Amino acid sequence: MSSLATRSAQAVRQASRRSTRSATPRLVAQPAGTKAYSLLARSAVLSANSASRQPSVTGVRGVKTLDFAGTKEDVYERSDWPVAKLQEYFKNDTLALIGYGSQGHGQGLNARDNGLNVIVGVRKDGESWKQAMEDGWVPGETLFPIEEAIKKGTIIMNLLSDAAQSQTWPQLAPLITKGKTLYFSHGFSVVFKEDTKVIPPKDVDVILVAPKGSGRTVRTLFKEGRGINSSIAVWQDVTGKAKEKAVALGVGVGSGYLYETTFEKEVYSDLYGERGVLMGGIQGMFLAQYKVLRANGHSPSEAFNETVEEATQSLFPLIGQKGMDYMYNACSTTARRGALDWAPIFEKANLPVFEKLYESVKNGTETRKSLEFNGRKTYREDLAKELKEIDDQEIWRAGKTVRSLRPDYKPEA
Ligand SMILES: NC(=O)c1ccc[n+]([C@@H]2O[C@H](COP(=O)([O-])OP(=O)(O)OC[C@H]3O[C@@H](n4cnc5c(N)ncnc54)[C@H](OP(=O)(O)O)[C@@H]3O)[C@@H](O)[C@H]2O)c1
Repeated sequence: MSSLATRSAQAVRQASRRSTRSATPRLVAQPAGTKAYSLLARSAVLSANSASRQPSVTGVRGVKTLDFAGTKEDVYERSDWPVAKLQEYFKNDTLALIGYGSQGHGQGLNARDNGLNVIVGVRKDGESWKQAMEDGWVPGETLFPIEEAIKKGTIIMNLLSDAAQSQTWPQLAPLITKGKTLYFSHGFSVVFKEDTKVIPPKDVDVILVAPKGSGRTVRTLFKEGRGINSSIAVWQDVTGKAKEKAVALGVGVGSGYLYETTFEKEVYSDLYGERGVLMGGIQGMFLAQYKVLRANGHSPSEAFNETVEEATQSLFPLIGQKGMDYMYNACSTTARRGALDWAPIFEKANLPVFEKLYESVKNGTETRKSLEFNGRKTYREDLAKELKEIDDQEIWRAGKTVRSLRPDYKPEA
């Protein structure tokens, strides 16, 4: 149990305010790609290309217009919302954070550290209730059963699992009364309303702040004085202030930069991305490459190293730092030639799969599957079984031994 849990509510609030001051995130406004990287610096031609790719930035008070590969987009930033302004803006509000999973934890603690008035609503004595108490939320003061928290809140942040948002909606909807604001971190529930039955009342603002990462990252980046990128959107603007509120809340929960989108685009891109390259696609690609190596007599360690270890430890971080061309440039001429030849072949083979995936997202098939699976009573056990099947695959068993040889290895729990 953390030491926070043993403090009184007042001490927790004071600690929050203290840590707000000391950990007030400083904006590190350093656009990626502003420095020529060393490999390219050696090549006059490539350096010239690199210079022409410098991001063009124009800004008016915290709103930057950035040129994203030829398309101009507005990006909102934290610097326009210093902590004092945030606290003043939300001085009459109570943020009722419903659900305390990954996002509830990250967003809730960040908003509390920003000195905002936050309460948590979860099922009494469930896993989340215990977790919230460990993080210093106090039953009867800042921690309540869900319905009670909604009644007390002015901004209702629905951070239940997407399936739970749908299941609980009939009980929760009547409590979301005129004047309150309804907040989501995913467009899922309202965009796919035919399936989820989540139809917000007509007299409340409905907004979205969707951090582009896990709630744990939302928290760690905030504590490091940085901030996660988030999408913001408005579904319903009753007060005329919905967008401003979304930006302010985005900053309040720990975002550094906020990109404007719509609920539809947020949910389509998110469901598509995680099924594709981010999770489903990468597992499928790793496995296919590994299987062919094994079928051709390569040892598990060789197949793993050549498929996963080199990717995650050496090459993918280079893409993250400075782009695909930088990674190509950092590799041998032999590797580069082959990769340049094979990339379009993979693109052609994968394009129809991605088109099929996007359609499956857009027509709601993916939503219905997710609601069915995650709405089962046995969903935790069913998920654990499927994840164990992955963990038992030879590729990932081989990976455990490969990881144990890393210089910084710590035994896995
Ligand atoms: N995780 C991410 O990386 C991520 C990123 C961006 C946006 N989002 C979005 O943020 C929202 C929250 O996601 P999350 O991953 O933080 O949450 P999650 O872990 O999927 O959901 C956990 C919460 O839902 C509660 N819950 C589950 N079933 C319930 C039920 N039948 N009745 C009442 N409570 C129930 C759990 O409470 P108990 O402990 O009591 O079961 C827990 O507090 C979602 O809309 C998600 O799409 C997530």
